[in-house]
Amino acid sequence: MTKKNISIRNLEKEDLSSIVDIEERVTGVARKKYWEKRIEISEAIRPHWASLVAELENRVVGFIFGRAGELEFGLPGTVAWIEIIGVDPAFRNQGIARQMVESFAASAEDHGINTIFTLVDHAQPEMDQFFTRLGFARGKMLHFQKEVG
Ligand SMILES: CC(C)(COP(=O)(O)OP(=O)(O)OC[C@H]1O[C@@H](n2cnc3c(N)ncnc32)[C@H](O)[C@@H]1OP(=O)(O)O)[C@@H](O)C(=O)NCCC(=O)NCCS
Repeated sequence: MTKKNISIRNLEKEDLSSIVDIEERVTGVARKKYWEKRIEISEAIRPHWASLVAELENRVVGFIFGRAGELEFGLPGTVAWIEIIGVDPAFRNQGIARQMVESFAASAEDHGINTIFTLVDHAQPEMDQFFTRLGFARGKMLHFQKEVG
């Protein structure tokens, strides 16, 4: 598909309704309160460069929520995490997510971070394929969980 004029910028409070809309189109569920809180957290404690939106002709068509984690899980140094990524279903397969991840990676590098982590659900093999296409490989950490209650 032809590359359109996509611009990537830091996420702002005003992007709330666009993000709620995109998630609703992806999952069928609108969670305004959840995203309000999420944006608040991003603005308060996460580096600004770690949460991004993609715009196409002044319309928000994708977003990344990320963060930087220092000395977590016994890891040396700082790791950048991609926690949530979403592209409006009407604008997929145009390289929008790739551009957001590349911009995220460039900012991480600018901040002296050399590694990006993310978690992918087994139930979403397309996310595995997507991150693999972007040069991500299986990491060395083990994911543990325990059911309680
Ligand atoms: C995964 C997702 C972010 C991809 O967005 P996108 O803008 O369409 O991706 P891109 O066009 O940048 O694709 C980048 C690469 O990944 C590959 N890719 C994209 N979607 C893929 C899929 N569903 N399956 C396999 N590969 C995929 C592309 O082929 C492309 O490869 P190439 O650049 O080497 O040709 C998007 O499909 C999405 O938002 N999915 C829902 C994720 C979700 O559940 N988020 C939480 C709720 S909002």
